[in-house]
This record gives sequence, structure tokens and C-alpha cells, in this order.
Amino acid sequence: MNKIVENLFSQMTIEEKIGQLIQVTGDFFQNGDSKITGPLSQENRLKDSVRYTVGSVLGVSGANDVENIQKDYLKHNRLKIPLLFMADVVHGYKTIFPIPLGLASTFNPDMMTISSEVAASESAAGGVRVTFAPMTDLVRDPRWGRVMESTGEDPYLNSVMAAASVKGFQGKLPIDENHVAATVKHFAAYGAPEAGREYNTVDISEWRFRDQYLSSYKAAIDAQAKLVMTSFNTLFGIPATGNKYLMKDILRNELTFDGVLISDWNAIEELIHHGTAEDLNNAAEIALDAGVDIDMMAFAYAKLLDNINGIPDKVLKLIDESAIRILELKEELGLFENPYVGISQQKENDETVAQKNKQQALQVSEESIVLVKNNNGTLPLSPHQRVFLTGPAANTGDLLGSWSWKGDIDDTDSLFTQLKQKVDTVDFSEGITYHQDVPQDWNNIVDQVNDVDVIVVALGLQSSESGEATSMTNPALPDGQIAYLRALQALGKPIVTIVVTGRPLVLTTVDELSDAVLISFFPGTMGAEALSSILVGATEPTGRLPMTFPENAGQIPIYYNAYNTGRPVEVGMDNGEEKYISKYIDSPNEPLYPFGFGLGYANIDIVHIAVTNHVISSSGTIELVVQLANTSDRSGSTVLQCYTHQIVGETVRPLKELKWFKKVSLLANSKKEVIISLPVNNLVSVHSDLRSYVDEGYYDVMVGLNSSELSHDDIQIKYLEEK
Ligand code: GLC
Repeated sequence: MNKIVENLFSQMTIEEKIGQLIQVTGDFFQNGDSKITGPLSQENRLKDSVRYTVGSVLGVSGANDVENIQKDYLKHNRLKIPLLFMADVVHGYKTIFPIPLGLASTFNPDMMTISSEVAASESAAGGVRVTFAPMTDLVRDPRWGRVMESTGEDPYLNSVMAAASVKGFQGKLPIDENHVAATVKHFAAYGAPEAGREYNTVDISEWRFRDQYLSSYKAAIDAQAKLVMTSFNTLFGIPATGNKYLMKDILRNELTFDGVLISDWNAIEELIHHGTAEDLNNAAEIALDAGVDIDMMAFAYAKLLDNINGIPDKVLKLIDESAIRILELKEELGLFENPYVGISQQKENDETVAQKNKQQALQVSEESIVLVKNNNGTLPLSPHQRVFLTGPAANTGDLLGSWSWKGDIDDTDSLFTQLKQKVDTVDFSEGITYHQDVPQDWNNIVDQVNDVDVIVVALGLQSSESGEATSMTNPALPDGQIAYLRALQALGKPIVTIVVTGRPLVLTTVDELSDAVLISFFPGTMGAEALSSILVGATEPTGRLPMTFPENAGQIPIYYNAYNTGRPVEVGMDNGEEKYISKYIDSPNEPLYPFGFGLGYANIDIVHIAVTNHVISSSGTIELVVQLANTSDRSGSTVLQCYTHQIVGETVRPLKELKWFKKVSLLANSKKEVIISLPVNNLVSVHSDLRSYVDEGYYDVMVGLNSSELSHDDIQIKYLEEK
């Protein structure tokens, strides 16, 4: 134990130790800008006598506010133990980056790191020392609103992005005044609620949890994340927040996580609603026994203060352990040396810094946008083309998405503002609002369309329609937007449709009615500039889909890395069987757009693939040499992807598993050789005894530019005698 911590701890009363385990919103200290991100109980369950012993505050930021609260608090706290300020700085603080689903669409971990780094720097100046990010939950169901906060359906992409985010938030250890501690959330498997309904039951086998869900949390913890947050849901039949096997055996022992474990908002009290705790006292003891160090807004740990003498010795010991972990985190974050570490009103308001951050956000936003259709070279637009711009997302700053902290949509450029700076003639009429059915001034719109070369229609959902507590039974655009698009298409001009969204949507009709389609997962502060730059071809669209887009909602959950089943369609068809195969009678199995899919303006293709060795030892590396060629007159980028499939395993194995990817740029009319180097250890799989290791045997190795158009080659892994 650190000397400072040891000295403090030895002086603390039990009341002061319990105080460190309590987290409240800023309202308990001021009537200021404290974000409320969960249900509030009717009664104020914190006694005045406890206020100046609580350990941390969430939802407050801003140099002035934080400084004032800290000053006031330290005047009253007997041992001068500073408060720790935590907040949900997920994809930006003032400069907002694309939502994490958009960051994942870049298929470029450097973009994730930049987003987290800028968010850390801006929020640290605003007094934040811990962020509740990255969310590393695997999500395969777009009905669940928090899909926007995830990096999608693939374990490997999630793991790469999780580590990149922790690196950006924390920087090099020890965490300095320009960085913040990262919190891996939500442990665990919160992204798999039945029917996509928020806070609903999660019931997956431990085998599947370990094989598909655990790796992204592990990647963030291996990247030295300092905190983990518990999830609201059950797992293996027990609510995660009170699940000792999950939190002690798996998180603390197996993943060797020794940092601070914080509950999600009120999650400890919710053990009562789940039916695994009798009352608040019992819930507190269960959570402590599971190793939960901080009680966020349930006041369950505060309840223990009502009967100090009645606290069992075992629980007193758990309280000691949690209090020490919290004090060690505060020490590591420099709070004992300087309770105001990082806070800087000057830096928080520095316009030069803000401009630099916006330029970085522009690059990230540009890389997040995905071109999924471009018939007849409709895009890019020529700057001299006459454009009619319309739709509810065309003239709004609502491009920031959920969890966009101090981001201000009124201070965010709209697509209209930006596009008219890049194209000579842009006529504009909104046409319809997000949920309006009949367009205003249709006749005027028809007249405007007569005089233009192309229609750009910006559709989508509002930021409030994704994020926490926004599950949808049918993830689709409102009917009015589809009807408006249909009416526009009937006017006979080329249609470019932009969809601004926080979640995959059923875009089948949009695709049918459009000549070109761009998907933008809430692109952030610089989103409009990024979109207009891509529309006119100043920037190449290089995003790829981190989630499958269903052909219809009935297919959900639909994801690329599925198991084969015993009656796959392909086998059936080969044998002339059309009935008894794994299919629907009213829908295709295939999605509208597959995982990893995206187009560019340049013509880049794979022209040759060579596997260096077809027999590789278990400690070896699979190597492929890939030739790419850009046969167009403009430079461009693509995302080269490598998937594997274990042909025979003790358990079933996904038909494809992403194991490697890289964004590759090529100059006009050029070729490039790329080496794919894949350690055999990346082929590890979980077996029925829950042990993870690589099996000997044959593997299909696939290379392509998305998950559905792949070239195949077989390799064999053999436990050759180690040389
Ligand atoms: C919310 C979210 C969690 C967030 C916390 C604090 O309910 O589930 O992700 O960090 O409360 O705002």
C-alpha cells in the first residue's frame, strides 16, 4: 500500500471509510450543471452529516464548478481527502467526435485514440479525472439504443478499439494532468438484452460469453484501464452487480483486474428489483462481497451507516479493501499532491486549442462516413452541379449523438451551411421535419427540383432516438421520411441520400430509391464539413460498417460471424433441397449491407493473394502477401480484411471471424503489396470445458474488402516440435 494511503487509512473512522465508497451527483454540493443520467429516488437519501465524507462525484464538469465544489468540500473534510470527479466523456467533451459506432466505422484505431485523447485533454481541463468510457459491450441488435455507444458486432474490432480508446484517455502511466482514468463498461454483456429491450434479461451461456463477449473487456483491462463499471443486467442467472463469480473469479482473478469497480447508476439497489436482495442493507452486503467498490447513486453503502455496530466483521474487511482501492486511485491521479490537478479555465477556453481539436475531429469524422451505394458515379458531385438539398437532417446541428457532454448543437454547423461553401448552387427546402408526414410547400419543391442536376436528401433519426433507454422494436426511418424520399425520386433526378443515425436501420427502401447512399453515425462537431467534403470528392469515403444492416427487422439479430447450423442453405441447395434448410419463407437470409462493407470513389481491388506457408506450427505466424491495385485516376483507400474459420472444432465455430484489418491508401493508377501477419495464437477458441486454446487442424483463411466477398485458402496448424 502506498505510504500516503497507508497513513491516511490508519486515521480513518469506519464512517469515513464508508463515505469513500459513496458517489453522488453534483447537486448534493451545488445547484449547478450536474447531468442526471438515471432515475432519481423521491427522498434525499444522503444525510447532511455524510455529505463531506463521500468519495466521488459524477456528472459535474467545468473548471469553475469543480474548483468551487472541491474547495468547499476540503474545508469540511476532516482528513482533507479530495473528491474524485467522474463523468461520461465518451466521444468528446466540447469538441464532439463521431459516436463510438462511427469511430469503429473508421476501421482505424488511431482515430479512436485521437478521439479519446482530445476528449481527455478537454475534460481534464474541466476538472474531470475519470471518464465512464470506453463502453466495450459487444452488440448484435440494433433495436438496443446503446448500440451507438458500442463499436459493433465483432469481438476483434471491439478489442482493437477498446485498447485504442484506453490508450487515448489515459496516455502513458502514471496518468498526467492532460489525461483521465478510463472505465471499462458495462461488465458484463449488457449489449445482449433479450429482444433488444433496454435493461432486459441477458441469458447467454458462459461458453458463448467467453468465446464472443469477454475479449473486448479483457483488451481494455490489458491496456491498463483503471476502473470497471458493473452492468445493470443479469448474467448466468445473477445480476452482474451482485455476481461474485463474475466480479471476483473472472474479473479480479482471471483478468487480474486490481483497479476500482464502480456500480452503474443505482444498480446496487436494483438487486432488490431483480429479486436477489431482500433490502438495501442486504443489497449493500451482496455488492461488497462481489467486490463493488463504489456505489453510484443507490445510497446502499450509505445505509450501512445507520447501524455501524451491526456491520459484520467480514463486511468491515470488504469496506477496508474497497476504501484502500479508492484512495490508491486518488493517489495515482495526483489528487493528494494537488486536489485541483489538471483544472484550467484558461485551457478550457483556449480557442487555439479548440481549433486544433476541431481539425482532428474533422479527420476522424471524414474517416467515419460510409458510402454504401454509388450507382453511375453519382458521387462525387461536381462543384458546378446545381444541387437541391432537402430533408430533416440537412439544416440542423443535431449531428452530435447521445453522450455528447458539453457539445452544443446550436454551435454545430449544418450540412446546408457547409455544402454551400463547396458547391456553386445549392437550393434548399427542408421539405419535412424528422417525424412529419406531408412535406411543406411541395409545389415549390417541385419547381426547385426542375432547375437542378441532383437531389441530396439528408434523412435520419435525432440524437435523442439512440443512446440509453431508447430501444426500438423496428429500427427504421419514420414512414414520412420514406414517403418523402419516394416523392422526390419520382421527380426523375439523381438522388443522393445521406442517413444520419445512431444505430443500424432497415434501409432497404432507401437503397431502392437512391442512386447513392452515405451512412453517417452521428459524425460530431465537424460532421457537416466532413459530409460535404465527401459529397464533392475533396475527401475519399473510407468508412466500413462495424455492424450488419438487416434487410428487414425480422432478421434481427443478424451478424456476420454466425455459426453454420446443421442445415445451411448452401449445402441444401447443392443437394437440390429447398425446404428443409435454415431459412425464412418470407425473407432472404442475407442482410442489406454486410459487416465490413463500404465503397470508395477510387477503383481499388485485390489482384493477388499468396499464403506464405500452408502448414504452420502452433507458435508460428500465418502470413499472406496481398497485391492491391488502384486502377482509377484518383488516389483512394480501402480496408483490407482477413477472416478465418476453423473447419472442424470441438465446439461449433463462426463461419468467419475477423482476425486482422488495415486501412490501405493507394495513389492513382498504382499497386501496393500488403503483408498480413497473423500470429496463430489469434486463432484461440473457447472449448466446452471453457478453456481457451488453439486447436490443431485445418483453417479456412479468407481475404477481402468486406465480410461477404472473400477469397479463400486453406492452411493447417500443426503442433510441430518447437525448433
Ligand atoms: C448510466 C449509464 C452508464 C453511465 C452512468 C453514469 O445509467 O448506464 O453508462 O456511465 O449511468 O452516467
